[in-house]
Amino acid sequence: MPARRDRRGRFIVLEGLDGAGTTTQARLLGDRLRASGRSVHVTAEPSGGPVGSLVRQVLSRRVVGGRGEGELDAGALALLFAADRLDHVAAEIAPKLAGGVDVVSDRFTLSSLAYQGLTTGDLPWVEAINGRAATPDVTLFLRARPSVALKRRRAASIDPELYEVSEFQRAVARSYDRGIERLRAAGQRVVELDGEAPVEAVSAAVWAEVEALP
Ligand SMILES: Nc1ncnc2c1ncn2[C@@H]1O[C@H](COP(=O)(O)OP(=O)(O)O)[C@@H](O)[C@H]1O
Ligand SMILES: [Mg+2]
Repeated sequence: MPARRDRRGRFIVLEGLDGAGTTTQARLLGDRLRASGRSVHVTAEPSGGPVGSLVRQVLSRRVVGGRGEGELDAGALALLFAADRLDHVAAEIAPKLAGGVDVVSDRFTLSSLAYQGLTTGDLPWVEAINGRAATPDVTLFLRARPSVALKRRRAASIDPELYEVSEFQRAVARSYDRGIERLRAAGQRVVELDGEAPVEAVSAAVWAEVEALP
């Protein structure tokens, strides 16, 4: 029987707080896989598909809830993220994997467990609505303290107005830990890497995990 990688691509997810370095590492991993001769597709969530576009519009407040004021209901947004995930898998991830292409996703189910688990206050429900999402071969969690992640975002001028780690950011960090526990309890492979190390060191650690995949 041929090795698994000869017939199906590997599905690798990068996760972490905003500023932990997931976008940087997704790009570097894509480059490295390509350089090793593999076909690779780098993607991100929210996806570029129709539901993902709607999620981005909600996040940037270009689309609001039906009451026409304030934010969309947290549960409604959690459902949109879950719907985008299934569409992302059906339209993009599954076909690539089936064609032998490795897929690297900047965020996936763990982001919903962390963020929507927190904003809805109902982690088991968020887990349930994501129960049909594909299982990654590995989820790599780039662990960085909220203060370090914030410093990077400020240095990159992503959020120049932010000066202090908010209670929300600390809560997201704790929520990620709960999400990691849930995924592991469900039998998923989640590996934590030191996201505070220099870019090249994180990239080397990511590569070691990917090389170790069956
Ligand atoms: N390991 C690292 N050490 C120092 N700076 C980093 C590291 N990884 C990423 N950065 C920088 O931090 C900022 C946020 O990185 P990014 O990859 O966009 O994070 P994320 O996608 O997780 O929000 C960028 O300016 C990036 O160049
Ligand atoms: Mg990013």
